[in-house]
Amino acid sequence: MTETDIARTLGRAHELAIEYLAKLPDRPVGRPVDLEAMRASLGGPLPHAGEDPVLTLDALARVAEPGLVATAGPRYFGFVIGGSLPAALGADWLASAWDQNAGLYVTSPAAAVVEEVVERWLVDVFRLPEGTSLGLTSGATMANYTALAAARHRVLADVGWDVEAAGLFGAPEITVLVGAEAHATILAALQMLGLGRDRVTWVPADAEGRMRADALTQALDGVRGPTIVCAQAGNVNTGAFDPLPAIGAAVRSHGGWLHVDGAFGLWAAASPDRAELTVGIEGADSWTTDAHKWLNVPYDAGAVLVRDRAAHRAAMTLGAAYYVETTGAERDGYNWVPETSRRARGFAVWAALRSLGRTGLAALVDRSCDLATRLAAGLDGHPGIVVLNDVVLNQVLVRFMASATATVSEEVASDQLTRDVIARVQLDGTCWMGGTIWQGQAAMRVSVSGWSTTADDIDRSVAAIVRADSAARERG
Ligand SMILES: Cc1ncc(COP(=O)(O)O)c(C=O)c1O
Repeated sequence: MTETDIARTLGRAHELAIEYLAKLPDRPVGRPVDLEAMRASLGGPLPHAGEDPVLTLDALARVAEPGLVATAGPRYFGFVIGGSLPAALGADWLASAWDQNAGLYVTSPAAAVVEEVVERWLVDVFRLPEGTSLGLTSGATMANYTALAAARHRVLADVGWDVEAAGLFGAPEITVLVGAEAHATILAALQMLGLGRDRVTWVPADAEGRMRADALTQALDGVRGPTIVCAQAGNVNTGAFDPLPAIGAAVRSHGGWLHVDGAFGLWAAASPDRAELTVGIEGADSWTTDAHKWLNVPYDAGAVLVRDRAAHRAAMTLGAAYYVETTGAERDGYNWVPETSRRARGFAVWAALRSLGRTGLAALVDRSCDLATRLAAGLDGHPGIVVLNDVVLNQVLVRFMASATATVSEEVASDQLTRDVIARVQLDGTCWMGGTIWQGQAAMRVSVSGWSTTADDIDRSVAAIVRADSAARERG
């Protein structure tokens, strides 16, 4: 491969990317996919002979196109999915071109130092305790895993048990308390750590999904020995925050480790107007967040932050003779995350933060929250359309009522109508929202997390939802 071939191939990749991004705002957001056709066009036997890489890229872009979802566009409101800020996307391209391995200092001093800087910036943005350590993970799931591994280390070390060496066989029992509305990935992390998803103590939540601090205090009363409490900053359905000051006080007076899953909610701390929601996070021991959600960094980019650096490192570190020794002053990435070799995801996070600055970050958070409020207001006035949650952040829950009464059969009819409206909105392609079950009732979930969404996108989306609602009622 000559220099010209490399330039030609990457030039074509650049052209294809720019073409895709230029069409993004007008592309149907989601659309029906012919799965078998896509399998056939992307599949077939592995070719015997290779081909010109430009042709390979052209073929990939052509056959992948029908199966691409405009998640990076301005009217994708499913799950909690941000787009990609231009600086972050560009830095991510560079990370691929540089092909840096962020596992060791010696494989990329630049990646190591960028992680040090991102650590300081995030500790500052979230107002966490000085000295808090950072790991950049594939996402919030692995951030929760890493934080809870550090928690497991500390609460067992405090009773004289070395869990990394001895495992959990014969270990003192750990009690894990989680809010009734904890994200599923907290349970996934517990299951991977041998702490068991079914042996947690559930703490009741209120109507917005916030863990009840009084119920936590009561539950802790009966607990002896190593204890971990998992709280949440930003419920995935309502956006609500657990009462962190009261939860922190309860854990401090009982003893134990407090983890806060703030996969998207932690970013509220970056906005002077929303930071109040995050008061009390500084009292926790570990935190999870994602850069690929609200910070609008391309996948994959999660972050774990841990107050007790020693516990964080002890839970993750490993040793191999051929890992070149550093003086100890340099950062080896493998000490802070489950992987050794990995993508240098810090470059994109660094670029997103630097390109936004403090004011840009606050504006991104505020704009998303204001647009979520605008969407809620646009829908709430329509007969039969109800916003179920208190819109405190960027999440909106909407239910479509078949009638004003709330008998069991009417609730079933409203569940059906809600699912029908969601399916129609998805098919229409103007915007994309998913569904959920909120406190036993079907609801449409809306998450405004993308940097490029405008008021006009919200108004077009409200109109599409109202159209889908009318069509579903006419058919019904
Ligand atoms: C509160 C919370 N925790 C964890 C996750 C999992 O994030 P990821 O998909 O990045 O692993 C999510 C995803 O929406 C979330 O909202």
